[in-house]
Amino acid sequence: MNDTSHQDGAARAAWLTAELNRHLHAYHVLDAPTIPDAEYDRLFAELQALEAAQPELQATDSPTLRVGAPPLPQFEQITHTVPMLSLNNGFSDEDIENFDRRVRDGLGDGEVEYAAEVKYDGLAINLRYVDGVLSQAATRGDGYTGEDVTANIRTVRSIPLRLNSATPPAVLDVRGEVLMFKSDFAAMNARQRAAGNKEFVNPRNAAAGSLRQLDSRVTAERKLSFFAYGVGALEGAELPDSHSALLAWFQQLGLPVAREADVVQGLDGLLGYYRRIGAERSAMPYEIDGVVYKANRLRDQRALGFVSRAPRFALAHKFPAEEALTTVLAIEVQVGRTGAITPVARLAPVFVGGVTVTNATLHNEDEVLRKDVRVGDTVIVRRAGDVIPEVLAVVLEKRAQPGPPRYELPKRCPVCDSHVVREVDEAIARCSGGLFCSAQRKEAIRHFAGRRMMDIEGLGDRYIDNLVEYGKVHRVADLYLLTMDELLDMKRLADERDGSTPETVVQGKVATKWADNLLEAIAASKKPPLERLLFALGIRHVGESTAKTLAEWLGRFELVRRAPVALLRVLPDIGGTVAVSIAEFFAEPRNQEAIDALLAQGVAPQGEHAPSAHLREQLDPVKLLAALAIPKLTEPRSRQLIEQGVTLDKLAGLTIFNVWGLPPAVAQALEEWMALPGSREQVRALAALREELLAQLPAAAQQGPMTGKTFVLTGTLPNMSRDEAAELVEAAGGKVAGSVSKKTSYVVAGAEAGSKLSKAQELGVAILDEAGLLALLNVGAPPAAAE
Ligand code: IVH
Repeated sequence: MNDTSHQDGAARAAWLTAELNRHLHAYHVLDAPTIPDAEYDRLFAELQALEAAQPELQATDSPTLRVGAPPLPQFEQITHTVPMLSLNNGFSDEDIENFDRRVRDGLGDGEVEYAAEVKYDGLAINLRYVDGVLSQAATRGDGYTGEDVTANIRTVRSIPLRLNSATPPAVLDVRGEVLMFKSDFAAMNARQRAAGNKEFVNPRNAAAGSLRQLDSRVTAERKLSFFAYGVGALEGAELPDSHSALLAWFQQLGLPVAREADVVQGLDGLLGYYRRIGAERSAMPYEIDGVVYKANRLRDQRALGFVSRAPRFALAHKFPAEEALTTVLAIEVQVGRTGAITPVARLAPVFVGGVTVTNATLHNEDEVLRKDVRVGDTVIVRRAGDVIPEVLAVVLEKRAQPGPPRYELPKRCPVCDSHVVREVDEAIARCSGGLFCSAQRKEAIRHFAGRRMMDIEGLGDRYIDNLVEYGKVHRVADLYLLTMDELLDMKRLADERDGSTPETVVQGKVATKWADNLLEAIAASKKPPLERLLFALGIRHVGESTAKTLAEWLGRFELVRRAPVALLRVLPDIGGTVAVSIAEFFAEPRNQEAIDALLAQGVAPQGEHAPSAHLREQLDPVKLLAALAIPKLTEPRSRQLIEQGVTLDKLAGLTIFNVWGLPPAVAQALEEWMALPGSREQVRALAALREELLAQLPAAAQQGPMTGKTFVLTGTLPNMSRDEAAELVEAAGGKVAGSVSKKTSYVVAGAEAGSKLSKAQELGVAILDEAGLLALLNVGAPPAAAE
């Protein structure tokens, strides 16, 4: 190889190195990508190839170093030049008051300026930069000696391999925390699970496990992150005169510093910061276990100094721990509204996430088996924010030997003794007792009465339990039959059972106000909007938004009740499973009785209306035919049939199917389907329903020269409002839409038209001004407004 080619290669490699590092920094530190991933990959591959041909071209900060190196036999020990100390902890406001007082006393000053930042829940690390180049990375270890994890740290994309400075210090020890973002943790665990590997309990353990890999190529596949918060040895530069200035300097050098860092004044500033971060904690992308306060001024820090192994000028203010150890006293199951059996661990009481926890969910059978939780085990429970407590993992070392037996889900419902069934492909086992099961009945009633459903105020869990327990309510309609006597009877029985005698009874009186209120609330719930009634019925897969779709599109309860699957399927956002679940619910005799009973009690949805005008489009025979889900009969095949004049009605009477140009397999599938009992009736009923609905729809859109054309109006037109323009378009049979797509026929743009106009230009949609619109519609200019 001659000299010039070598020089070219060297220049190119240097350029590629700088360029790639710049993009990495933009992407991982600034969160502002500067090139597409594919282009990055291309440049990266080019540099890799250059370095493979001429290894001497690999710079000390080459991004190719980040892919990991061959495994190490062990980690080398490294002695920290400046020991890595720890922080004292505070938990209560009082602890913080004491800290602030000690600091003020120590400085003999008034209010102190503090740097406040989050306390990352990761692993402390020391990064040594020599002349600006990352030369060594070490774990904290015992604070004096740690392990050399340089190869692993090089794989962390947000850590610069070279500092961004023309005059870097001779030696700079950057201290900070290595951690894993919650999203990267979730993705990694999903991969581990898919590969049948062990999952990590939390992001911190995952970060630790990844950092302590002897094979750094494994670390490279794990997404670790880093934030800088301190400094160790420093040679050849002056320390900035405050902590906030240090962080700003780090940022200039290209090191990641967390956004949440702030400078606050005095005790109030500290407590305010703690509350603010506490409120944001669960929404943050990484886990933190508190906040850290540091006297901001370097001269204050020096004046205060250290006590034993911790600085006097700093304090960690911890949040209540979200994870704790406790033991499993029992594993029981709860039966939900749909019969879902949820295993729940009963725990020895433990204070976690700010409350005492005695139960934690185990989610479902597979989860219990995967985590292998057994009675008597020591487990890690987690309660984060308002999330229900869960068992994260078993501490296997603490399991008694020989171990307790493996947990098995009961085969019969503990409440009603019906069989527990679990369908293939379902994670959830269910009690097959349906509304025979009092647990399911209670849950169904709880759901029905809920705030976003029938909204029966005051009908709380305890009343529902007792009403079902004492046979006062078997199904939701019974709520509307309750009498004062029955409520009082229920209360008396419950008091007897609980051995409590209310004060009023002692006085020889009976309190009835609560019962009056409850009866009133029940009566007041009789006229809900249709979507709430639909949601309240507890149809599987029908949440608030599906209920809303049904109400908006079909308008009347009576129509929803008899809508066949095919009609439901053509409604927006209602897929096959949901449509089937709705139709099956209303077809079930027990549900029909329950609904009729409700209606008989005067429950009636408010504000019913004709089906939505938009339904017309969905009643297109092509769509309906496809929605019948006849095997192999896709929408194009349905269109083929309809376009040849095969109406739904006609189809119901056909006996020969191979004459419509359908591929033989399709024709045969159709023939087989039509031979099934009920198929013809189903098609005929659908055709009839279609006719019936079409007749009910609000007046059809105008037919005219613009029928089939879609317009989008944007900006301010000179002589008319957009509403007026829309009227003209609709009068000519056109449709007005809100957003521009490939299907838009014309965009009518006035003054200050914005993104819709640019989108139209991008998609090549025809653009008109007001005069152009009038010409197209063949109408004259609107009369000028009277002066
Ligand atoms: S400053 C003299 N700042 O907490 C010690 N530490 O208990 C200076 N930590 O080992 C530490 N976030 O792992 C500092 N913003 C932060 C921190 C932080 C997390 C960890 C670090 C350290 C431990 C001290």
